[in-house]
Amino acid sequence: MKAKNLVYSDAYIDLSRKELLESIRQVLSEKRYTHVLGVEQAALELAERYGVDSEQVSIAALLHDYAKEQSDEEMRDMIISENMDLELLQYGNSIWHGPVGAVMVRNQFSIHDQDILDAIRHHTVGSPNMGIVEQIIYLADYIEPNRTFKGVDKARSLAEKNIHEGIAYATLKTLKHLLNKNARIYPKAIETYNAWVVKK
Ligand SMILES: [Fe+2]
Ligand SMILES: [Fe+2]
Repeated sequence: MKAKNLVYSDAYIDLSRKELLESIRQVLSEKRYTHVLGVEQAALELAERYGVDSEQVSIAALLHDYAKEQSDEEMRDMIISENMDLELLQYGNSIWHGPVGAVMVRNQFSIHDQDILDAIRHHTVGSPNMGIVEQIIYLADYIEPNRTFKGVDKARSLAEKNIHEGIAYATLKTLKHLLNKNARIYPKAIETYNAWVVKK
């Protein structure tokens, strides 16, 4: 299904796709808006491949980075006021915009579909028990057409063949990259690694 041919049913959100795009455009830079459309495209291809609802996947993809350009101060306030894991405060935007984004879209768009909210919440570090919508958004974020890093084509072909292998590849590469930078690793990212990468 081509994104522009999608007609939302109002099962998940009270807006048309066009209205949703206008709201998103107001909070994202041009570059990130383009990224978000790329994630939607990649996610719709995976949805078709794995037999998942294209409307649900489109909404999750378009909103996955909704919080990304909020200030650190706004995000910190929300982590505290929403009783999120306070360990988050030792990290930054790259981790926060997932959980904060899930709360923002629930509040601003009255989205209550758990798969959509979890896909947004977990796209930054994954989760051991990701359902198929979460898996698709996590991986689509990594392989969307605007990505050009070394290894992205490998990730794309794995994603097409077997989504579990695609996720394992993306998770391992991301973790290695962070370790090479001596970055602090959010524990949930290790849980994702243990669940999806370690051979059983
Ligand atoms: Fe993101
Ligand atoms: Fe993203």
